[in-house]
Amino acid sequence: MKSITFSNGDKMPVVGLGTWKSKPGEVYQAVLWAIESGYRHIDCAAIYENEKEVGNALQKAFNDGLVKREELFITSKLWNSNHRLDDVVPALKKTLKDLRLEYLDLYLIHWPVSFKQGVSFAQTREEFFTYRDVPLVQTWEGMEEAKMMGLVKHIGVSNFNIAKLEEVIKSCQFGPEMNQVEMHPFLPQDKLVNFCKANGILMTAYSPLGSGDRAASSKKSNEPSLLDNNIVKELASKHMASPAQILISYSVQRNIAVIPKSVNRERIIQNLASIEINLDESDMEKLANIGIAYRFIDGSFFTGAQSPYKLTDLWEK
Ligand code: A2P
Repeated sequence: MKSITFSNGDKMPVVGLGTWKSKPGEVYQAVLWAIESGYRHIDCAAIYENEKEVGNALQKAFNDGLVKREELFITSKLWNSNHRLDDVVPALKKTLKDLRLEYLDLYLIHWPVSFKQGVSFAQTREEFFTYRDVPLVQTWEGMEEAKMMGLVKHIGVSNFNIAKLEEVIKSCQFGPEMNQVEMHPFLPQDKLVNFCKANGILMTAYSPLGSGDRAASSKKSNEPSLLDNNIVKELASKHMASPAQILISYSVQRNIAVIPKSVNRERIIQNLASIEINLDESDMEKLANIGIAYRFIDGSFFTGAQSPYKLTDLWEK
């Protein structure tokens, strides 16, 4: 299995199963199909509200002898409501309990946005913490504590831009080892990729297929489609592959982990098989010049009228 490597030599399989939007009732079977078909990397998060089901599927896989714990790479993420120093380890312990695991391979700060404890999605001003209330470095200290306790092997962040990575790196004991962000040919993130590379931070691409199964309320009416894009389709014909496989292969080719979500057995199998596709330089060049720039997950659900956060706080200028 092709993998990317942390500085201590630990490996992360480059293609993992995404579980955002996988409903309880679907995700159990999806995780088992994935493990049966050779996936060794599952991407989870507390806010996906399906970690218990994922945990049950992992237990079933262990009990049936499909795979051993140490052969799997499991990621989860700290939700925005647990950013205070004293809340990080308890939130992680809840995730470990739900996933029925003793340790995670990777734990990430999900978003650089803080809510008061118990708030799933802050709406009113009172439900938010500001950076002054809870600086990101405080949350990072909690992540370091989790690592020192042996509850997680690697720690990192998600949805962090260069300025926020620098803020953490400046005052940390151990820097972030991973930055998981939206990435695909419409959002290649070249500047961020170069910064992460220069600072020894690995990357994971989320929403590699454009996350077409998002709630209608979080979609714009004029969104471009990655899976229907002509250049992607042309490369799919050339490689006798599907458009999704080309999009997954795009990240693999850049040594960036990628976590396509699926709850369909054929598509789960097909997505892992993308590893076999070799996009050449001219293919990558075509994707680099696709001519559309678009961010599907723009974070605007965190930046409403009452929020102390602005979209300009989140992304690169
Ligand atoms: P499904 O779960 O029914 O397979 P993303 O990973 O960008 O969030 O995209 C997830 C969406 O893409 C889901 O709607 C998922 O549907 C769909 N999907 C996953 N794999 C494929 C594939 N190989 N071809 C087409 N659509 C796919």
